[in-house]
Amino acid sequence: MKILSIDTSCDETAVAITEGRRILSNELFSQIETHRQWGGVVPNLAKRAHEERIDEVIERALKNANMTIEQINAIGVTYGPGLAVALGVGINKAKELALKHDKKLIAVNHMEGHIYSCFAQDNHGLPDFEFNFPYLVLLVSGGHTELILFKDHITYEILGQKLDDAAGEALDKGARLILKNDVYPGGPIIETMSSDGSASAFQFPRPMAHSNDLNFSFSGLKTSLLYAIRNMSDKERTERQNDLAASYQEAVFDSLLIKVRKAIVQTGVSQVVVGGGVAANGTLREKISRLVNNKQSSVYFPAKSLYGDNAAMIGIAAYYKAQKNLFVVDYGKLDRIPRASLSFIETF
Ligand code: KG4
Ligand code: ZN
Repeated sequence: MKILSIDTSCDETAVAITEGRRILSNELFSQIETHRQWGGVVPNLAKRAHEERIDEVIERALKNANMTIEQINAIGVTYGPGLAVALGVGINKAKELALKHDKKLIAVNHMEGHIYSCFAQDNHGLPDFEFNFPYLVLLVSGGHTELILFKDHITYEILGQKLDDAAGEALDKGARLILKNDVYPGGPIIETMSSDGSASAFQFPRPMAHSNDLNFSFSGLKTSLLYAIRNMSDKERTERQNDLAASYQEAVFDSLLIKVRKAIVQTGVSQVVVGGGVAANGTLREKISRLVNNKQSSVYFPAKSLYGDNAAMIGIAAYYKAQKNLFVVDYGKLDRIPRASLSFIETF
């Protein structure tokens, strides 16, 4: 089954062609440069850029898969979570293609895409390990921080989630505080600064470390960073920015790891899957690998090209939805759900 998928949930116009878990093409138009000057994603600019680029990205995806739309069996599309006006562009285009070319439609949750990104295969079907449920999933992106029990295909139980800022958001805001500048996105900047800093230079708290639940909170940590910086001159802050970044990043990641460790103990599940944009961070991947990797357990990350937002992950999730006959029944009802949750399956 060949699926053309579209994701316009945030600031990337993404289109892919997949067959099962195999990626045949995976194309992107990134809007980062458009938003960078504003220090974050501007919804109306995102909408306009998606509208301007989507046809061209679809064409590129088909061309690179060496295919025409007639050879496609179904259209997958992200319905949420994400920016409402941005999601709308992809949904409208998916409906238009499905109606015009008489294709089935599959609506996918962006976060389930991030989960399935860890199981993607290249054009040759590699890596070729089989699914072996259950998995414990850590999702860490700009808007989400969640621990999920991935029980079977398209079957999830949320074990814990953010109570305030998401991990990626904490890093983005941290970078702005440390640099006193509206940089965006901050996660990669924090990672670069951290590589030249000391993670033990500043003592930041590990929020929620002692709570028995599996939820996350980062707003207190952000306040501690603010307090540490408040008493510094600009010169001192600049001189110590790498230490600040490394210590702050360490506190964010320790907070994640404490809960991953707790979740492994509570569920007895030690196969860990890590998805979302923050999984691009080498230090986080190293820390989780150290925590999990041993003879009895394993850790799965997305391939490098799939850390961030992309449509291939949506296509793979769409395939497993199709296997369960979860096609959109009423195209008129399919609508964006900006705050969609993985804890229930939408019915359109
Ligand atoms: O999944 P994603 O691309 O978009 C959302 O669905 O949110 O995640 C974006 C988030 C941003 O907060 C960004 O700062 C963070 O992922 N991020 C990183 C790195 N690259 C992106 N965080 C830490 N280290 C990185 N290298
Ligand atoms: Zn994402």
